[in-house]
Amino acid sequence: MGHLEQADADRLRAWLAEVRSAEATAALMVAVAYDRGIGTSELASWYGRSEAWVEETIAALDSPGFVSTVARLEGVDIEAIAAESNLAPTTVRDWFDDLADEPVADAADVVRRYAEGSAEPVRTGTSSTVYHLDRDAAVERGWSLDDDDLFAKAADADLDLPEYGRFLVEPGESILEAAERGGRSWPYACRGGACSNCAVIVVEGDVAMPGQSILSDEQIREANARLSCVGVPITDEVKVVTGVGDADDFADLRLPSPADETGASD
Ligand code: FES
Repeated sequence: MGHLEQADADRLRAWLAEVRSAEATAALMVAVAYDRGIGTSELASWYGRSEAWVEETIAALDSPGFVSTVARLEGVDIEAIAAESNLAPTTVRDWFDDLADEPVADAADVVRRYAEGSAEPVRTGTSSTVYHLDRDAAVERGWSLDDDDLFAKAADADLDLPEYGRFLVEPGESILEAAERGGRSWPYACRGGACSNCAVIVVEGDVAMPGQSILSDEQIREANARLSCVGVPITDEVKVVTGVGDADDFADLRLPSPADETGASD
């Protein structure tokens, strides 16, 4: 008789009180019963399902980050959220899985909100720390944006504002808004996800972009570019290289900025 190897059966049991769909309830009951030593064939006959369904369900829930499975069973459309947030589905799935460490009632509340809304972009309910490094400052020192230790080098080099620093992004703020609140400034134009002026490259962590309409999949997935005016951190810590909006890769997407028009430097 088997037992769950990775999931905490007590936490799965606690989720039983929180889920609403029959599928999620059945799946959690199967996993909890399995952990108590009930065999898969017996569970299949109890729940009127195939033994393959029982085994797949147990395998999906027997993971430290089982919340994405619960979310799917509750009707959350992870692919649609990923598309709306301009993130890879695996990133959104991992984001749900990370909720496994939160109090069950809080995590269940998040799942419920996403299950009720059709494809709400990913937003966190907690603040995130953003480290920022100016591209020109890195290039001047001969550092590549691909260097694994790029931010460690910036910290060791005693760089200071405006070239390097960190600030807190509160829930509901974009990275650009939080940067400006913290006394930073970098180029922008439309402030609505429709140009490349405010682009940053995400070196560590991840950033959703609800509403962005201009970056290509390649720029998002391969270059890890994000628009800071609509960018919302979805990890506790994010490291971004700023000042990349006027790089050749983004030249076609750039708009005249308000600072260009007033003759000021942005
Ligand atoms: S300022 Fe245009 S996309 Fe951010």
